[in-house]
Amino acid sequence: MAQLWGGRFTGNIDQLAWDFNASISFDKRLLEVDIRGSKAHVTMLATCGIINEEERDAILEGLDSIMKDVDNGALVITSEYEDVHSFVEANLIKRIGDAGKKMHTGRSRNDQVALDMRLYTRDKVKETADILIHMLSVLLELQKEHIETYMPGFTHLQKAQPVTLAHHLGAYVEMFKRDHGRMLDILERMNYCPIGSGALAGTTYPLDRDMTASLMDFKGPTLNSMDTVSDRDYLIEYLSALSIMQMHLSRFAEEVIIWNSNEYQFVTIDDAYSTGSSIMPQKKNPDIAELVRGKTGRIYGDLMSLLTTMKGIPLAYDKDMQEDKEAAFDAMDNAIGCLTLFADMLRTMVFNKDVMEKSAMRGFTNATDAADYLVVKGVPFRDAHSVIGRIVLYCIDKNCAIDELTIEELKGFDEHFDSDVFDAISLATCVQKRLTIGAPGPDAMKKVIKINEDYITQYR
Ligand code: ARG
Repeated sequence: MAQLWGGRFTGNIDQLAWDFNASISFDKRLLEVDIRGSKAHVTMLATCGIINEEERDAILEGLDSIMKDVDNGALVITSEYEDVHSFVEANLIKRIGDAGKKMHTGRSRNDQVALDMRLYTRDKVKETADILIHMLSVLLELQKEHIETYMPGFTHLQKAQPVTLAHHLGAYVEMFKRDHGRMLDILERMNYCPIGSGALAGTTYPLDRDMTASLMDFKGPTLNSMDTVSDRDYLIEYLSALSIMQMHLSRFAEEVIIWNSNEYQFVTIDDAYSTGSSIMPQKKNPDIAELVRGKTGRIYGDLMSLLTTMKGIPLAYDKDMQEDKEAAFDAMDNAIGCLTLFADMLRTMVFNKDVMEKSAMRGFTNATDAADYLVVKGVPFRDAHSVIGRIVLYCIDKNCAIDELTIEELKGFDEHFDSDVFDAISLATCVQKRLTIGAPGPDAMKKVIKINEDYITQYR
């Protein structure tokens, strides 16, 4: 047990209590940001005359050598240390002696861990935003290919009106664009530097907090030291945004699973994103999509866990907050993993255009348009609705589509039908007539795709 705080103690800590208290098994992933933060802190200490330049240089070199040795395996992070901060400081002192004992001047582990988590999370928020842009670019490419791929649009999972695949995918473009916007909002609000807040009440050293903030690309220092050491709002915001993003992925996964089913066959998932069965030789299962849907629960759970951990914490730092890490890391790892895999699965998926189109034709998705046709010919809408309803019943009986009936059959239902009806209710016409922005008509669709392409080029 290599602890930083032995001086005040006469007895030893119980082994179980030590293990219970330690966080090194999961906070070791903060090593890189811990070292980044310490380098900025000691650079500032030297500039402010709190340590001298030789001490600074020795510390900077020592920190770099620790990072390098952990990377190349010469130094191993073991459970002998309480947390990553103790690991770094103990090893620094081992390597450079007394100068190493000055690194922690004007700092507490409370503002140090607040800084580490913020740096680590800031990188992850940026990474999530970048992968969202990649996801959007995959979707925009698919949209451009499928502006005239007709498919049924659904409500209640019942065929409703014809849309295009570009239009359906466009719904997810809007969702992921909002997710991207949320990442940018979080970055904006979280980008203030915690270090210099001390344990809770600042320090008595003449620290230059503006300097440490700017060394690590923060907009400035945080403004209340008690809030700073006990603030995990940015993590809660990030996990909230990830939960919403994951909800979108889960809905999309659900649709891909339905589309890939033997009954629908709208898509064929690539072998690279499918698995087989140990007993049923014919099976090719959409396990990746199912796991994306499945992992949504644990990500919501991570958010709930963090919210619940924070709800009763009196100011300022309390050890409860160490529980932020496993939940936050679990949510980031899983959500980023799902997003990355899903984009690749979409990119390699085959869309069976003919099946989609046939499904739109055979599902009476042009029934509203057929009613509208009669309205244009002077039939009141409610009467037209009822005429088409009876025609649909007749077609179900004959197992055919409305536009497969003869003009004589149609006239038997209502004399207003003319031979121009077939063109008026074809899939292409039904879609093309929907030309307001946001609708599936090809011209409207092209305008929207352009707007979204302009959006992603800002961030590439
Ligand atoms: N491992 C701790 C955490 O994750 C670091 C801060 C410890 N501070 C303290 N006063 N015990 O929160």
